[in-house]
Amino acid sequence: MIRIKTEKELVHIRAACSVVAKVLSSLKGEIKPGITTRELDAFAEKQIVTLGALPAFKGYRGYKHATCLSVNEEVVHGIPGNKVLKDGDIIGVDAGAIVAGFYGDAAITFPVGKIDKKTEKLLRATKKALSLAIRQARAGKYLGDVSAAIEQHALKFGYRVVRDLYGHGIGSDLHEDPLIPNFGKAGQGPQLKKGMVLAIEPMFNLGGYKIETLKDGWTVVTADRSLSAHFEHTILITDGDPEILTEIKD
Ligand code: MF3
Ligand code: CO
Repeated sequence: MIRIKTEKELVHIRAACSVVAKVLSSLKGEIKPGITTRELDAFAEKQIVTLGALPAFKGYRGYKHATCLSVNEEVVHGIPGNKVLKDGDIIGVDAGAIVAGFYGDAAITFPVGKIDKKTEKLLRATKKALSLAIRQARAGKYLGDVSAAIEQHALKFGYRVVRDLYGHGIGSDLHEDPLIPNFGKAGQGPQLKKGMVLAIEPMFNLGGYKIETLKDGWTVVTADRSLSAHFEHTILITDGDPEILTEIKD
């Protein structure tokens, strides 16, 4: 069942999402060659707490960190640790916050120093796919319209869409109905309604679509170790244009 949020719930969801946006925005300045993923995670956790929220991922199914930091061929759920970022890497930063029991969730893949053209293009296309998907997130449209927009954009560039991980509803839980595939057919699936809150998260690979999970039980990598990019926003379906709750406002 897809929960429709009340205005009261939305107050807290908005607050949680705004914390996530602020954290991602300030993390951007910390991402440079030489820093470890552990340092980035510590910075994010401190920010989340300072902003009056709780780190949503910490404790989720036994996960121990505030962020997932996924470098290069890591798709999602990279564990912060001793890894040192180097010039030309990309890093997917996924952060979640809880305010008064309500969740916000967003991710950005950042370049580290100077990245090559091919990688730059992958990032730009994945980000664009998210914005095209959000454009479809309107009352009266269908979930398949959102999914199809993502897949169609990947196809234009010959990128492969990750098929085994999904976006999701979000609210009083981090993961609520519906599952949001990054592929599908327009006009199919549940109809979208005002008050639904969705975390839409395209993941594009330069190589094949297949993924695997490393022995640490978390880190998802591309099976062929090709580069992967991930962008995510939590959005609200309204009467009119969708509201991007995790939009960075500067
Ligand atoms: N942001 C991820 C998602 O969208 C959740 C991270 S899994 C966790 O599903 F264990 F780290 F929380
Ligand atoms: Co998510």
